[in-house]
Amino acid sequence: MPEYPLIQAFDSRNPDYLPLWYMRQAGRYLPEYNEIRKGKTFLDLSMQPELSIEVSLQPHRRYAMDGIIMFSDILTPVHAAGVPLHFEEGRGPVLEKTIRTESELSLIDDYDPARDNGYVGETLQGIQAYIDGLDAELLPTLIGFAGAPFTLASYIVEGSTTRKFELTKTAAFRDTTFFLKLLGRLADITGEYLCYQIENGAKVVQLFDSWGGILHADHYEEFSGQFNRKILSYVRRKAKKPFRFIMFTGNSAHLTDQIASMEPDGMSLDWRVPDHIIQELPAELLLQGNLDPLILYGNKERVIETTKSVIERFRGKKHIFNLGHGIHPSTPLENVEAMIQTVREHRD
Ligand code: CP3
Repeated sequence: MPEYPLIQAFDSRNPDYLPLWYMRQAGRYLPEYNEIRKGKTFLDLSMQPELSIEVSLQPHRRYAMDGIIMFSDILTPVHAAGVPLHFEEGRGPVLEKTIRTESELSLIDDYDPARDNGYVGETLQGIQAYIDGLDAELLPTLIGFAGAPFTLASYIVEGSTTRKFELTKTAAFRDTTFFLKLLGRLADITGEYLCYQIENGAKVVQLFDSWGGILHADHYEEFSGQFNRKILSYVRRKAKKPFRFIMFTGNSAHLTDQIASMEPDGMSLDWRVPDHIIQELPAELLLQGNLDPLILYGNKERVIETTKSVIERFRGKKHIFNLGHGIHPSTPLENVEAMIQTVREHRD
């Protein structure tokens, strides 16, 4: 029987094997990604299954990771629900419309993932077909994902990536009724979207709350936590197949208790979380992380030593090795290789 070590990690069924994947593993640090991306937009890649399947598989073909995350973006369902956007070089996502008032909420259409994001289902099925065709005892696990409502809302309100979150926080603290309605609508869309991904083969789904950490702990529940909980309970009730749910929150050392209390199957930690907090997290909770992605810009000795210290930090815990946030586009490949090699040497 083939095994999925990444799933086994949730049950401590293969405690000597440390599974590995990393956020943004399909992307611009890989020459083969840049090759396929030439002359095409990011949306071309993510909306054409034959291309998104290939791009999703690139990191596995090169490094045989234990997880294959589908190639897409957290904003894909936002685009599909009537808020069009494109990706600009050096700027990231740029939305063609913003939503800042209650009357603008009607810009978001009815959403049906099979109808509006059918290419995502096809991509997932294509990746799983590749996995099923592998001649190996230990198989990679198909990972789906979505953006958390608070993080998606920050894009919809601001119109692009922001450092300051002034408009997002104005909406939250001044136009609270509007902002909560927007978050509620995004939670409904995200619940449907994740059920659809699970139906189409995702065995692990990760909810990315990349910007949730900009909230004070007193405001986290109101503007992010309650919606993430709602999504998790919806998907647990409605999904037609078994799955594991990982919650990722950027810059969230101050929120770990609140996130753990939502009882996800796994929690993805960024590199700033202090060790004593990690030690206090419940033993049944799988932890994922948490090498600083910029360590990979250091020298090889530093990469090896820090990778080892991440492994040690989680010893005795259920653990999936990952970065603390997505890999950066100009990361040197020899350091990616050194990290992967170090994880593999420490498996037994
Ligand atoms: O992890 C993977 O390999 C799967 C693919 C994936 C992408 N985006 C591809 C992408 C995933 C999981 C995401 C999630 C995502 N997208 C997040 C959450 C994770 C995180 O890093 O916090 C966020 C905040 C976004 C929004 C987004 N999309 C930004 C800020 C950018 C620009 C930054 C950048 O790297 O250029 C994007 C574009 C994007 N999404 C690219 C890729 C590979 C670059 C596209 C390109 O120009 O080729």
